[in-house]
Amino acid sequence: MFTSIWASMTTMNMLINMEDALAYTRCPDCGGNLETLETSRDTGFLCPACNLVFATVSGVLILLDTASRNKNLEGPLIKRLAEQVSTAREHDACKATLGMLDGLHGSAYVWEDEEHWSNEYEQQHASRTEKNWNDRFWQRQPMFQLLVDSLQHAPRERPAVVLDLGCGEGQDFRRFVAPVMREEDIYIGLDISLPGLVLNRHCNTHKHAIYILGTADKPPLRHRLADAVIALGTLHHMQAKEDGLPIVGALLKRGVVLLSDPINGHFLPPFLSLSRESRSAHDDSVDVQRLHAHVQALGFETLYERQFSGLVYVVLFKLFRAAVLRSRGLHGFIHKLDDTFTSTFGRLGNIFRPRGLLLVLKAPPQPAIEGAREGR
Ligand SMILES: C[S@@+](CC[C@H](N)C(=O)[O-])C[C@H]1O[C@@H](n2cnc3c(N)ncnc32)[C@H](O)[C@@H]1O
Ligand SMILES: [Zn+2]
Repeated sequence: MFTSIWASMTTMNMLINMEDALAYTRCPDCGGNLETLETSRDTGFLCPACNLVFATVSGVLILLDTASRNKNLEGPLIKRLAEQVSTAREHDACKATLGMLDGLHGSAYVWEDEEHWSNEYEQQHASRTEKNWNDRFWQRQPMFQLLVDSLQHAPRERPAVVLDLGCGEGQDFRRFVAPVMREEDIYIGLDISLPGLVLNRHCNTHKHAIYILGTADKPPLRHRLADAVIALGTLHHMQAKEDGLPIVGALLKRGVVLLSDPINGHFLPPFLSLSRESRSAHDDSVDVQRLHAHVQALGFETLYERQFSGLVYVVLFKLFRAAVLRSRGLHGFIHKLDDTFTSTFGRLGNIFRPRGLLLVLKAPPQPAIEGAREGR
């Protein structure tokens, strides 16, 4: 599960800015404040209310809720913390956490998916050539323009916070957002893949960055902390699927949320699918009607919506991948062709319907969001 990319890395965490970490995170279980452990070498956190500790590794905070905690990953790290803490309260919390981890059985929802993503990011890290993201960049550019415009109106007297939920290796942040961030602004990347987070940290040069191994269903983050939330390709991996929008929305203080998820199921039933191995265990589509209902209930304004990527796009992209990734014009042309096809034949059969949704939502003026259902 967790292999080469991080196994050799040190648990020393010079890389974590404790002030930033404590300001934006909270206990994934009770939502209470975390404290830092008094340790000599490694960095760890304590939730005094739950009497539980949380470890860090390679500059990444491991803030999993009880249901998703991972004995194999966290056990050795917490044993190391237990050797270093000095107060009786901290010793007791380390002991209680190790006891709790020991009693864990089976694997939580997030870990079914983690292996797929970690393999993908490890392969990317191992290959010396940068992955070509042009198709995503071209599709997502109008959405990020809205995010950048919105950030420019963020209050100047405090750091702006950009939260990347299901951040993976963070290519969009680096390309579109990092160049317009001020040095004091904060990037928070949360994902269930440690290799993804490590790769992200390795590639990202933004100084004030916090990396969290956690689950988007139970984000260990303070409500209303963000000036922008990037949740691209994330909702459909959450256990809550489209019902995860209120969880994501609760993290936004102002500004925009960017979403990108599959819709309308798959072209073919799973037993006929030719590319099953390229999909993760939780690769499912979201219910677009229910998602729209959440948008309305939360009082979000839709700034941008696009349904795309039907049969024509998928077939042409598969056939001419190399050429399409080299030419923005050609990419735009097959998108247009696809749009024409889906709008003409989309109603005739499932196979012709669009499969992707891009959505940019704007937070309602405060305090309207207070009435929205919270994620926990
Ligand atoms: C389709 S990829 C998208 C990655 C990135 N946001 C992008 O657009 O390139 C889905 C990402 O979500 C992460 N992920 C899957 N389930 C998750 C969960 N329950 N909580 C947080 N992240 C999750 C995966 O590890 C992966 O990095
Ligand atoms: Zn707690």
